[in-house]
Amino acid sequence: MEIETRNTLTLTKSQKIEVRNLNIWYGDAHAIKDASLKIRKNNVTALIGPSGCGKSTFLRALNRMNDFIDDCVTKGSVGIDGTDIYRTQYTNVNNLRKSVGMVFQKPNPFPKSIYENVAYGPQLHRMHESKAHLDEIVKNSLQKANLWDEVKNRLTSEAFSLSGGQQQRLCIARTLAVDPQVVLLDEPCSALDPISTNAIEQLILELKKSYTIVMVTYNMQQAKRISDTTAYFHLGEIVEVGATKKIFGNPNHRSTRAYVSGEFG
Ligand SMILES: Nc1ncnc2c1ncn2[C@@H]1O[C@H](COP(=O)(O)OP(=O)(O)OP(=O)(O)O)[C@@H](O)[C@H]1O
Ligand SMILES: [Mg+2]
Repeated sequence: MEIETRNTLTLTKSQKIEVRNLNIWYGDAHAIKDASLKIRKNNVTALIGPSGCGKSTFLRALNRMNDFIDDCVTKGSVGIDGTDIYRTQYTNVNNLRKSVGMVFQKPNPFPKSIYENVAYGPQLHRMHESKAHLDEIVKNSLQKANLWDEVKNRLTSEAFSLSGGQQQRLCIARTLAVDPQVVLLDEPCSALDPISTNAIEQLILELKKSYTIVMVTYNMQQAKRISDTTAYFHLGEIVEVGATKKIFGNPNHRSTRAYVSGEFG
């Protein structure tokens, strides 16, 4: 098959992702309605909105995770560095998911050791030249996820022996181990206590220096604390997108104002 390497999506230097006229259906249900969004490099973009408004569906579209859902149909384009992931060289979805990693709501480590959880991706993609190199990748990834000091003496322990917050940082380390460019997080703190939540928030602020972060959160305070840009979703549409300060301080739309002020949720 001939593979197109570029398409016509425009791209500015500070921009990493451009979603254009995205429509997603589950059978007859129109879950995402003509959504367009530009996502900046080295920024944290928060997706907020009431339950069922399409945040997770939108997020999963960014690394084609919706492909796993049988009756899910996607139209429109998602450009990453100007390349439409639905049409082009990224037909290799394994490589796409390597560069656009995802962390889920509930920590979901593999039933393996701490070391093996992080080594899994690099092994799969044959990224290491030797055992020593793999050890180095594992160490670096755990360091980036602020978990190394807590686990360096127990790398062979089961991942499930870690606390919930540690397991979530392990999942982040596992994502970072394959050297992604974009990290998607779907309510990464909702299963965590306040101290673990704070650790993840500090980590996200650190990670944005090297990665582009897109995060779904139902926690308004969290969006305010750590995101640069916020997109407000309602009934499958992006109602409003802008600087987080503006969305929370002086939004243009009445329904955004009602949601961020806690009138409904
Ligand atoms: N696998 C699926 N099959 C069919 N419909 C789905 C599926 N996943 C989501 N939907 C529907 O698509 C719409 C958007 O769901 P989505 O999970 O994206 O919302 P959300 O904003 O993430 O909600 P929440 O805040 O509750 O996680 C909802 O109406 C939901 O019922
Ligand atoms: Mg969701």
